[in-house]
Amino acid sequence: MIETGGRVSGKVAIITGAASGLGRADALRLAEEGARLVVTDVNVEAGTEVARLCEAEFVEQDVGDETAWTSLIEATMSSHGRLDILVNNAGIAPIANIETTTTDVWRDVMRVHADGTFFGCRAAIPAMAQGGGGSIINMSSTAALVGISPYLAYSAAKGAIRSMTKAIASHCRAEGNGVRCNSVHPGSISTPMVHNAMQKLAGIDMLAQPDPEAMRVALGIGEPLDVANLVLFLASEESKHMNGAELVIDNADTVDQVRR
Ligand SMILES: NC(=O)c1ccc[n+]([C@@H]2O[C@H](COP(=O)([O-])OP(=O)(O)OC[C@H]3O[C@@H](n4cnc5c(N)ncnc54)[C@H](O)[C@@H]3O)[C@@H](O)[C@H]2O)c1
Repeated sequence: MIETGGRVSGKVAIITGAASGLGRADALRLAEEGARLVVTDVNVEAGTEVARLCEAEFVEQDVGDETAWTSLIEATMSSHGRLDILVNNAGIAPIANIETTTTDVWRDVMRVHADGTFFGCRAAIPAMAQGGGGSIINMSSTAALVGISPYLAYSAAKGAIRSMTKAIASHCRAEGNGVRCNSVHPGSISTPMVHNAMQKLAGIDMLAQPDPEAMRVALGIGEPLDVANLVLFLASEESKHMNGAELVIDNADTVDQVRR
């Protein structure tokens, strides 16, 4: 039985890309605080395991598939009767700069991040509004704020998420539907996505180190729980006056980058 802290008790949440990394940590944290979860991913095996740990439902979903969003929201409303929280978290991060990014890579990245977040927000808002409101949390990145050379398409897609979040927040405020929409901008956090980047860009296999945790700290890389605690805050009523905000969580990495 999961221990319930109750900060999001009784709320129904959908988390995409919940099989791994940040989505997995968000799912575990929201479940601990009493949310009823629908976790989704393209990775069925790992997603099912996260659902088991959270006493949640797993749905296989490709976030870039528009029709899958309609069925996911309909199924959630029919089994839970409401939708309070959506975490648009699923992501991919192929390494390619402006000269090496192929059209296929560009389209794949835009499809998962920009299309996926757009489809998710558009499908969720009417369902949330039926219950008097809700909280949408869009996972962007510090890449949206500074642009990262080896992540050209990713930086552009995360920028799209940042600005669509503000347009959605403004729309929902004008509609008075009670839906809030905020974006989260992590720097490097220790997940498979970053382990892969460290290996490919810096030749460091973090998990093969004698003390991976000491290596994480030495490199200034955050933990998934750091982000999950922020997601929990945005999902809860504690953040009820926050709408259209962009929350950077990077221990001043971006500030230092701008200063250099
Ligand atoms: N880890 C970081 O340092 C970091 C920093 C900034 C932003 N982010 C963002 O956080 C989110 C999670 O990243 P992570 O580090 O946990 O990565 P991860 O690779 O560990 O997890 C990403 C998850 O998304 C799933 N996914 C990929 N494509 C999908 C699709 N089309 N439909 C549904 N699910 C799909 C994967 O199967 C995986 O489970 C991403 O949006 C990423 O861009 C991560």
